[in-house]
Amino acid sequence: MFSIPFVKPWALAVGVVLYTLTRAYKVVRGRKEVGYVQGIRTLFEPFTFLGAVLPSLWWPLYPGVNFQWERRKSLYKQFNRDTVSIVPYLAGSARLWTANLDVAKQVVAGGASSCWIKPREYSRALLFWGMNLAGAEGGELWRRHRRIMGPAFNNKTYALVWNETLRVYKDMMVHEGWESKTSVDIPIVQTYTFKLALFIIASCGFGLPFDWSEPPTGEDDQMTIQEALRVVSETNFMYTMAPSFVLSLPLKKVKYAKQAHDALDAFMRHQVAVRKVEIRREIAENGSEEISRDDVFSRLVLANESEAEKLPLDDQEMIGSTFVLLFAGHETTGHTLAATLGFLAVHPEEQDIAYDQIMDVVGHDRDPTFEDYSALYKVLAAFYEALRFIPAGSVMIRQTTADTVLKVPKDLDSEEAEDLVIPNGSIVSVDMVGIQYNPRYFPDPFAYKPSRWYEQETTEIPDVFTAFSIGPRACIGRKFAQVEAVCWLALLLRDWKVEPLLRPGETHEEWRERVLSAQLVMTLTVGPVPLRFVRRVTKVESVISS
Ligand code: HEM
Ligand SMILES: *[C@@H]1O[C@H](CO)[C@@H](O)[C@H](O)[C@H]1NC(C)=O
Ligand SMILES: *[C@@H]1O[C@H](CO)[C@@H](O)[C@H](O)[C@H]1NC(C)=O
Ligand SMILES: *[C@@H]1O[C@H](CO)[C@@H](O)[C@H](O)[C@H]1NC(C)=O
Ligand SMILES: *[C@@H]1O[C@H](CO)[C@@H](O)[C@H](O)[C@H]1NC(C)=O
Ligand SMILES: *[C@@H]1O[C@H](CO)[C@@H](O)[C@H](O)[C@H]1NC(C)=O
Repeated sequence: MFSIPFVKPWALAVGVVLYTLTRAYKVVRGRKEVGYVQGIRTLFEPFTFLGAVLPSLWWPLYPGVNFQWERRKSLYKQFNRDTVSIVPYLAGSARLWTANLDVAKQVVAGGASSCWIKPREYSRALLFWGMNLAGAEGGELWRRHRRIMGPAFNNKTYALVWNETLRVYKDMMVHEGWESKTSVDIPIVQTYTFKLALFIIASCGFGLPFDWSEPPTGEDDQMTIQEALRVVSETNFMYTMAPSFVLSLPLKKVKYAKQAHDALDAFMRHQVAVRKVEIRREIAENGSEEISRDDVFSRLVLANESEAEKLPLDDQEMIGSTFVLLFAGHETTGHTLAATLGFLAVHPEEQDIAYDQIMDVVGHDRDPTFEDYSALYKVLAAFYEALRFIPAGSVMIRQTTADTVLKVPKDLDSEEAEDLVIPNGSIVSVDMVGIQYNPRYFPDPFAYKPSRWYEQETTEIPDVFTAFSIGPRACIGRKFAQVEAVCWLALLLRDWKVEPLLRPGETHEEWRERVLSAQLVMTLTVGPVPLRFVRRVTKVESVISS
């Protein structure tokens, strides 16, 4: 047995009794909060500090923080309903988990009069850097952030995203020395997709066009911004949820995380300061608020300098918004592109379909332009389908601010809904993985079939596509990400046939099992994707060489 110094046994006993009583009350209350819906009874709620650091235990003792992915085939089947509950005994609070689109709509797409909000507790990791659009809650605060950021996401921005993606692709080919290669082995394709995503957000979000060979560094030149972002997104959750003593532990990992946080902080502050000076000067010189820059970041700064904006962002909100752009625009897109290439590698027939469309629309003799975007819908569909399989934003957490009623289907097969009485303060997690594998909406959900998204033959938003969320708080960067993805994939698939980079003796099926699986970090992410790019021989070249 161990003993805790300075704690008297009786005090310990009182503590244990009090804790047990509190938890017993919480469990009773928790069952009410989930409207008495059946589900998992477990030791810890996965989205707590304890839940995040503990490995999964024998089901259902503790399902682990990655249960959403690992249990995707069984979680809802087990209870024959697509809305289930998790009630924890030892840590965390009870909540409903839903894989039902109608329930999701009630919770996330209610608009301004809805009683459902994003709970602060879960936005903490996002809000760590300052208030921002993604974390803002409470009508006016969110509307102000959306009003300031919204106009920057327009067709001109998307055209710029397209042009910059083209520039970065060519830059990459030259600097990586791939132009002359007939085949390239790539141990981790995220090395490239992350760099792309960072460069596009840097250039179109911040007006900082980087060069492929010169990765941007922070002020002290110690760590590249990309490395800082990678470390921050891996550790931000711990950083913001951990008890404060953890951050002063003399561990290498903790120190490195701190270094990354500092580097990113310095980078963002420096960028804000520099741009503020630049925009002030421009306004003074031109005597008007028309500025030459048109990136998202400049608009944020301009909003603060503008006479017309009555409620500008303060300094901390500026940093918070900068972080959100960097973070939301980087990791999600980088991972989804990697996953798309992974799926296309093990589905060569789907890759050929995309390739044929690229040939039909663009061909070999010119660069693709933004005008080609809509016509390349099969390329977009390949991306959508990868996003359906591994939705980067995998859970949307909402809390009710009043007693309310949810209409929830009774079982997996029926449309018939029952009314659940949900008390003030209850939490619902919308499970994006659950929805996107729900056979109600996706027949044969475990098959990679981009053709699910062809029907409309346009790039308009399909109704059942939830990976960017739905309603007024849906992703503001959706088209930004899609334009970047379609341009990049079109360029890459035109030049290269993408194949899995197999281990000795490994089959495609084994590769797929090993690689195309997901892990919850800050977002749901595919593991490192190893690929081989094999140059496609164009008809012209083969004629010449024969
Ligand atoms: C594949 C790429 C992306 C995916 C899957 C994705 C997914 C999502 C999801 C699911 C939400 C809703 C979160 C919630 O309600 O809890 C969201 C919100 C948001 N996303 Fe994205 N996103 C992507 C790319 C981007 C990009 C490129 C940007 C910026 C350039 C961006 C900026 C934002 C912002 C600012 C919000 C908050 C919007 C609001 O609350 O009004 N995202 N995203
Ligand atoms: C942006 O482009 C799309 C498709 O090209 C078009 O349908 C839409 O009307 C444009 N929006 C604006 C504001 O010009
Ligand atoms: C993108 O490139 C095209 C073709 O070079 C050009 O016509 C267009 O003005 C560019 N658009 C933007 C927003 O940079
Ligand atoms: C404003 O002035 C700057 C020089 O300070 C110039 O580069 C820019 O083009 C001007 N913008 C407009 C819209 O006239
Ligand atoms: C915005 O303007 C206010 C008042 O002019 C100022 O105090 C603040 O520092 C500015 N913030 C930014 C980010 O420019
Ligand atoms: C719901 O609970 C919160 C926090 O306890 C409280 O501030 C709020 O007034 C309650 N809402 C209603 C409608 O009673």
